[in-house]
Amino acid sequence: MEPAQVAIIGSGLIGRSWAMVFAAGGFKVKLYDIAQQQLMSALENIRQQMKEMEKLGVLKGALSAEQQLALISVCTDLKAAVEGATFIQECTPENLELKKKIFSQLDLIVDDNVILSSSTSCLLPSKLFTGLKHVKQCIVSHPVNPPYFVPLVEIVPHPETDASTTERTYALMKKIGQSPVKLNREIEGFVLNRLQYAVISEAWRLVGEGVISPTDLDLVMSDGLGMRYAFIGPLETMHLNAEGVSNYCERYAEGMRLVLNTFGPVPEFSGETAQKVNQALSEKIPVVPKVLDARRKWRDECLTGLAKLKTQMKSD
Ligand code: NAI
Repeated sequence: MEPAQVAIIGSGLIGRSWAMVFAAGGFKVKLYDIAQQQLMSALENIRQQMKEMEKLGVLKGALSAEQQLALISVCTDLKAAVEGATFIQECTPENLELKKKIFSQLDLIVDDNVILSSSTSCLLPSKLFTGLKHVKQCIVSHPVNPPYFVPLVEIVPHPETDASTTERTYALMKKIGQSPVKLNREIEGFVLNRLQYAVISEAWRLVGEGVISPTDLDLVMSDGLGMRYAFIGPLETMHLNAEGVSNYCERYAEGMRLVLNTFGPVPEFSGETAQKVNQALSEKIPVVPKVLDARRKWRDECLTGLAKLKTQMKSD
């Protein structure tokens, strides 16, 4: 049987990673971009990454690197790219007008069955999809960078998205080994970025007020909170750190509220604190492409190792 087919629109950082995730899941992938050069560099980059992962024994999926690579083809014709696809993942730059234009082009050429999904990090479905003929088939599937190594996908429907679109997207994400979560309604920042910004905001205030250095602040997360957050979330943490959530609230609600009431206003993310954070981070990791790339590579290796460990430690 022919493998099912998906189209990826935009072959940048996120598009290439989605292509690898779908190929690992055995899907035929058509990668579309307006820039031929981008497509060539995407293919080369995917080849290198897959070969290296195969060598290290961490390639995802049941197929070899060559078999997965054979599933991926590139294309600069939108109509040809989406022909035969059951799922289209848009990964173009985070620009509302550009994305709206692409979705209205897709709206004209797709049938009533295909799912139109966007990787957007922060554009709301109601901004992206309102007015499209196929709005019932539209959804946001927001990945975490890089989706190949970090499985979470936030599935965010438009108010008019059909429930079957949400369910099919959820099932597809599961099938390719991602970890989908459903939002019941759209909200600015979705859930992941709302949590992330809450952390960044307090980190910024603590450094800005001179309570802690930028490097020590990062350690609080990487050697403290982050150790458990890779396995259990903040709510389960409450449950386990007392005799259940109710008991946690009895014990700690007052203390939490006292601390939370000392949190300040939303930071500006500029001026002296920005300089201080930038200087500390640039001393540790100079802003030079080679150095940044090496650090990203190390991060991805760590994430691969963590993914392996999480599989070994799997619990429901
Ligand atoms: P990128 O800039 O690396 O890639 C964008 C690609 O789109 C480029 O290859 C570009 O040539 C192509 N493109 C531009 N105009 C196009 C058009 N009209 N038709 C087809 N392709 C076109 O961007 P990146 O980082 O991959 O982001 C893509 C999307 O993923 C954005 O919406 C972003 O918010 C979202 N996202 C990004 C994350 C990240 O950390 N980079 C994380 C999660 C989501």
